[in-house]
Amino acid sequence: MSEEFYRIKRLPPYVIAEVNAMRAAARARGDDIIDLGMGNPDLPPPPHVIAKLAEVAAKPDAHGYSASKGIPGLRKAQAAYYGRRFGVDLDPENEVVVTLGSKEGLANLAQAITAPGDVVLAPNPSYPIHTFGFIIAGATIRSVPTTPDEAYFDALERAVRFTVPRPSVLVMGYPSNPTAETVDLAFYERVVAFAKKHNIWVLSDLAYSEIYFDGCPTPSILQVPGAKDVAIEFTSMSKTYSMAGWRIGFAVGNRTLIGALTRVKSYLDYGAFTPIQAAAVAALNGPQDIVAANRALYHRRRDVLVESFGRAGWEIPAPRASMFCWAPLPPALAHLGSLEFSKQLLTHAGVAVAPGVGYGEDGEGFVRIAMVENEQRLRQAARNVRKYLQSMGVNTPAKVAG
Ligand SMILES: Cc1ncc(COP(=O)(O)O)c(C=O)c1O
Repeated sequence: MSEEFYRIKRLPPYVIAEVNAMRAAARARGDDIIDLGMGNPDLPPPPHVIAKLAEVAAKPDAHGYSASKGIPGLRKAQAAYYGRRFGVDLDPENEVVVTLGSKEGLANLAQAITAPGDVVLAPNPSYPIHTFGFIIAGATIRSVPTTPDEAYFDALERAVRFTVPRPSVLVMGYPSNPTAETVDLAFYERVVAFAKKHNIWVLSDLAYSEIYFDGCPTPSILQVPGAKDVAIEFTSMSKTYSMAGWRIGFAVGNRTLIGALTRVKSYLDYGAFTPIQAAAVAALNGPQDIVAANRALYHRRRDVLVESFGRAGWEIPAPRASMFCWAPLPPALAHLGSLEFSKQLLTHAGVAVAPGVGYGEDGEGFVRIAMVENEQRLRQAARNVRKYLQSMGVNTPAKVAG
């Protein structure tokens, strides 16, 4: 009896799990760990959304199987969101599907459209499902950079020229997790033109659609005229409304891809619990103050983090979007590598971060810091980091305020 399962063999041990296990052990010992590791929002959803969940859950007929592709009201609410936010017209019947979080949607779309041996272009470093969704489905990944610049388009051109079979899918996600890079509409225009020229499907992951700073709203690929011919886009309630545990996301766009995902899902699930879908409708159609409030909150945290860590002796570039800082290791400690550095930060500073190498080999030399603790805790983290850096002989310019 073989215990070497084809798919499991292709899934390496989760690097980030090592740091997570150390964090759990430290907490079990009673240590105070400032957890900036996982992108798990620390805030609740708005009260009217929770009230809607409770109201619908109290109805006796709300407990049966729901609709795998999502209840019509939720698909309509998502289409309305794309209309008002991006000026994109969507048919809720054929161009929108509700997913059990965008991660599930990405994974099942990969199953739906991938044959073993297909070549998929995916960023490195990347959010793991962007690559492993396809690896589980048997694809071969050809890595492309995350930097939305000439090097990116050069890499795409080389990929279509030199890869056999030709790539069938291009995966991207901006604002990027983990690098927090952002793009403009001109970037998406070039991507759509490239995809049309080479008959490649584009999967865009817009999980951080509403978490942008400095007054620069992040675009959708579907704003490019004709993008629907080749592209599908995923969004999520997880970060926008702090509903990560609710597991509601969406795929919208190209109807062939939406049809394929809907078909696979119809075999696999019965949709999210109806009261959760009804509450998601209330979130999308109701007052949007929470969205602006969340954005402002992450913005303030970003400023506090960058400023206080900088004064602690660790220069971190300010992200323009997402809930992450993508921080190069302090140069004097770069030799440790991102995994060892993350372990030392946890042990000696009580601060958990995610090692960049966990997102792909090109993530080495960085750690991802999630802005999921309050400003006071971020300043405390900076003070702890300062002491750790000093203990390692790193020059720390000034005393950390606060
Ligand atoms: C880029 C990206 N895509 C997708 C997800 C998963 O989102 P969801 O909760 O909708 O599955 C995350 C979560 O961190 C993410 O960062």
